[in-house]
Amino acid sequence: MSILQDKFNEFERRSKEAELGGGEARKEKHRKAGKKTARERVDLLLDAGTFVETDKFVTHTATDFGMDKNKIVGDGVVTGFGKIDGRLVYVFSQDFTVFGGSLSRANANKILKIMDLSMKAGAPVIGLNDSGGARIQEGVASLAGYADIFYQNVMASGVVPQISAILGPCAGGAVYSPAMTDFILMTKESSYMFVTGPDVIKTVTNEEVTKNELGGAMTHNSKSGVAHMVAEDDEQAMMMLRELIGFMPSNNMEDPPYKPTNDSPEREDESLQELVPADPNKPYDIKEIIETVSDDNIFFEIMPHYAKNIVVGFGRLAGKPVGYVANQPAFFAGVLDIDSSTKAARFVRFCDAFNIPLITMVDVPGFLPGTTQEFGGIIKHGAKLLYAFSEATVPKITLITRKAYGGAYDVMSSKHIGADYNFAYPTAEIAVMGADGAVNIIYRKVTDLEEKAKIVEDYKHKFANPYKAAELGYIDEIIFPKDTRKKLIQALEMTKNKSKQNPHKKHGNIPL
Ligand code: HXC
Repeated sequence: MSILQDKFNEFERRSKEAELGGGEARKEKHRKAGKKTARERVDLLLDAGTFVETDKFVTHTATDFGMDKNKIVGDGVVTGFGKIDGRLVYVFSQDFTVFGGSLSRANANKILKIMDLSMKAGAPVIGLNDSGGARIQEGVASLAGYADIFYQNVMASGVVPQISAILGPCAGGAVYSPAMTDFILMTKESSYMFVTGPDVIKTVTNEEVTKNELGGAMTHNSKSGVAHMVAEDDEQAMMMLRELIGFMPSNNMEDPPYKPTNDSPEREDESLQELVPADPNKPYDIKEIIETVSDDNIFFEIMPHYAKNIVVGFGRLAGKPVGYVANQPAFFAGVLDIDSSTKAARFVRFCDAFNIPLITMVDVPGFLPGTTQEFGGIIKHGAKLLYAFSEATVPKITLITRKAYGGAYDVMSSKHIGADYNFAYPTAEIAVMGADGAVNIIYRKVTDLEEKAKIVEDYKHKFANPYKAAELGYIDEIIFPKDTRKKLIQALEMTKNKSKQNPHKKHGNIPL
């Protein structure tokens, strides 16, 4: 055999060794837990055959606790780049079969390298997290690795999309890297996130809680609002990530990707004509409007299990991605509260950072009254949404379907805070409050029920409609519900070259 051939064989041998991860026994245990391996996940995520691996031969440099004799090539994280629907993305995938996917100095450097490349190349980073946290044998060197990643997450925020999938453990300070990315997806049975685990909680507060109750997928998707999506398993998770990436540009200098469609921009839908009930107290599902008007009826909802009184997510109109923010009359009458305000505010800021036009649908009776909300700081949390809509410079199109009452009218992307085009259905009611409430305040002394009913009717006639706002130019156009798709597309077309800059500043001070 020639010397050359020897060298090639050695390269092949080493390369195969690196692909073994923690070995067959650990991989088997991993698969039995219903999880795919780090490499299988990458293969499922990316277009077939596009993955290019970086730093395949990296090993850790630790020497304490016998680590000098315990090296596994690749060191617990698979990193590199590839394509999703032909578009470049960077990816890191923690390998739980190697030292529990724990973060060493060396594997932190691998992750940092692709984060750095992603910013130079202007392409998203997707992190597949499955890790026991800091590499215990490395002490502060590992903590330093985490902090370097956190810092890089912040630098990348708003420059390239960053997406995290939690597919196994994610505990301690390790949660803060995903927390600073734009979206977190968790798998239903196999993932959890917490800052301190059940054992520490038991010692400190004497509370008993399981890992799943404390930080499982549904806890973070429905209670804490930390996570944005839940998938049944790894396979579905990778498919959801692929779909999600399809709505966003590769970086903040690009427009979101156009996806051709056969769905006509002129399409009318008669079913919308009667969807919004004439009775303002009757609920209906705002998602029906969103799905009906979107290309091919596709709506990718973000945080569907949290603060259901507001709906946010992505769709496309005439091939162009848009972000929807919509009050949901089918849940708590679509009222704005702390959770719905923060949910929507963060989504609005993502869309604005990445040039995704905002379509806001309004049917809101106001902010939720009560001590829980006031003590919880509804003032500062509601202000987040107001701030986010106001600072957003992307095209902003608003449609009032029914109620737009009080401060919530102002907040929900009204003309006054910079919306570019404001529609209303003939069923819209734009007023300080509902007619009954209003009359009870300004005609408190009127006790005769018949007289009061007359005044209520008069108030409704004057204010519970879109015409007063249209007279003042706060509504640009009143439209038939069946024309919604066509009208939204026209408005998007009209605003597509919008150019708006906020005053130059270091950064604003959003009420946190
Ligand atoms: C080194 C680790 C490790 C770690 C797990 N392993 N966590 N090695 N550092 N942090 C190794 C185990 O020794 C084992 O090696 C293999 O990974 C699998 O672990 P098991 O315990 O057998 O798996 P399982 O029963 O599934 O339990 C998973 C686990 C548990 C819940 C994650 O391993 C665990 O509690 N690990 C420690 C978690 C932790 O306290 N990390 C530090 C958090 S503080 P072998 O060779 O037997 O297969 C932190 C701070 C970050 O992360 C700070 C940032 C600011």
